Parts: sequence; C-alpha cells; structure tokens
Amino acid sequence: MERGTKSALEELKRLATKAHADELVGRLRRAAQVLREPVPFEDKLQQADRRSSLYEPTWAAQDETEAKLLIYNTDSEQSFLDGGKADAVRLSPYFDSGSTVLDFGCGIGRVARFVAPECERLFAVDISERMLEFASERMAEHHNVTYVRSHDVVIPEVPSASVDLVYSFLVLQHVEREDAFLLLEELRRVLRKDGTLFVTFPNLLADEYLDAFLNYVRHPETRLPGRARFYTPQEVTRMVEAAGFEAELQGDVEILVVARPR
Ligand SMILES: C[S@@+](CC[C@H](N)C(=O)[O-])C[C@H]1O[C@@H](n2cnc3c(N)ncnc32)[C@H](O)[C@@H]1O
Repeated sequence: MERGTKSALEELKRLATKAHADELVGRLRRAAQVLREPVPFEDKLQQADRRSSLYEPTWAAQDETEAKLLIYNTDSEQSFLDGGKADAVRLSPYFDSGSTVLDFGCGIGRVARFVAPECERLFAVDISERMLEFASERMAEHHNVTYVRSHDVVIPEVPSASVDLVYSFLVLQHVEREDAFLLLEELRRVLRKDGTLFVTFPNLLADEYLDAFLNYVRHPETRLPGRARFYTPQEVTRMVEAAGFEAELQGDVEILVVARPR
C-alpha cells in the first residue's frame, strides 16, 4: 500500500473512533439526563397495581399495644403521647390553621393527633390497613382527617401540588433505599411549590444505630423487609436533593430533614 493511502486510512480510522467515542459520550449523557428525571406518576401507579406490597405484613399489628411496640418500641401510652406531642411541636413552624398537612406513614396517629387540631385538613397516609384502622379509632374526634392507604410508592388519592406540609417520622428508613427515593419523589409530587417536607432518617454514625445495624448483621432472622436502614447525613442530603429538594439537616442521632421543592 502506498504511504499516502496508508496515512489517509489511519486518519479515517482515527476520525471514526473519535466519532464513535463522541456518539457514546452523547448517549451516556442523554441516559444520565433521563435517569435524573422523576419517574412519571402514571408509571409508578401501573407498577403499584402489579406489585404486591412487600412491607405491609411487617406492620399488621393485632392490637394497639402491639402497634405501639412496633412503632415506638413502648407499651406505655404516656411515653407514646409525650413523644408524639414533642414531634408535633417540631413541626409547628411549618404550618398554620389554614394548612393542608400530610402525615406519611402515620401509624396509629402518634403525631397526627396533635397536628390535626392545629391545621385545616390532614391526610393520614399509611401502607397498613391495620394501622389506619387504629388511627381512625384513636382520632375519631378530629373530623378534618382523611385516611388514605398508600400503594407501594404512590398515594393516588392525594392530588399533585395540594399539600403545604408533608411530614414523615420513622418511616422512610423502613423501606429499601430505592423505594425511599421513589417515595421522596412522590412526596414532592403532592407538595405545593412553596411547601415543606419534614422527614427523618437514623444516622449510621450514631453508636446506637451502628449497633442496630450490627444486630441485623449478626441475626439474619431479624432482617424483615420492613427492618430499619441506616444513612449517613451526606447520603441523606444526596438523596433528598436528587429527589428535587433543597435540604437542611438537623440532629445527630435522628437526622431531621427540612426540605423545600427546588
Ligand atoms: C415506625 S412506624 C412510625 C409511625 C408514625 N410515623 C410515628 O412516628 O408514630 C412506621 C410506619 O410506617 C408505615 N409504613 C411502612 N412502610 C411503608 C410504606 N412503604 N408506605 C407507607 N407507610 C409505610 C408502617 O405501617 C408504620 O405505620
């Protein structure tokens, strides 16, 4: 082969390789962009119909005493109520008497019973029918509460952009990390643009939660689908922000997240 032809061929090869690399980079960039878009609500809803719930059996309490143990590790009504009241006080800067509020994973209304009298309307949402039954009995005197069962990672009964404050104590830690993320996106869907999200996660950096994690490691029989997962504050910030919020973190043992839609 002549030298000129050879170098022309080499040049063509170089250009083809570069074009191929550019095309690949372009495709990867487009794929990354799609990955960062929230999953459309309709797609999640379709999946929820097909997928049976992983988590509900963990929370199917037989009676209120068992529910309190599952939720707050106590059978004392007094400490259950004291904790609920203290958590409601934490929420008070973020809503008023005209607000629509949503308690995600409300349990038997430990916190909701103190929030309901202070807001206009409260959605009490949970995946567990049993928890919702006990909640509605315990909060029967509050007529502004609507009880809603969530389906996997969607809350179809709650319209988009309809809620001023979404709060969720001790819940997102009990699902797979990917589901926690999808739920954060769903909570963003129901929040108004100027609304507030208040959620908690257990801090893996705290000794008590490292011990709880090691307990699951050493005792595999305790690793139920609804077991707790532990997060570092950096991981929480990364996830909450990737789900479309600006996040502020407080707390050392319980990570308290106050976030607003971006
Ligand atoms: C530890 S309890 C906390 C209850 C309540 N937030 C409180 O602080 O008293 C966890 C609650 O989350 C609910 N839950 C668990 N997984 C859920 C899910 N994937 N979607 C909605 N609720 C869920 C359980 O049924 C249970 O009521």
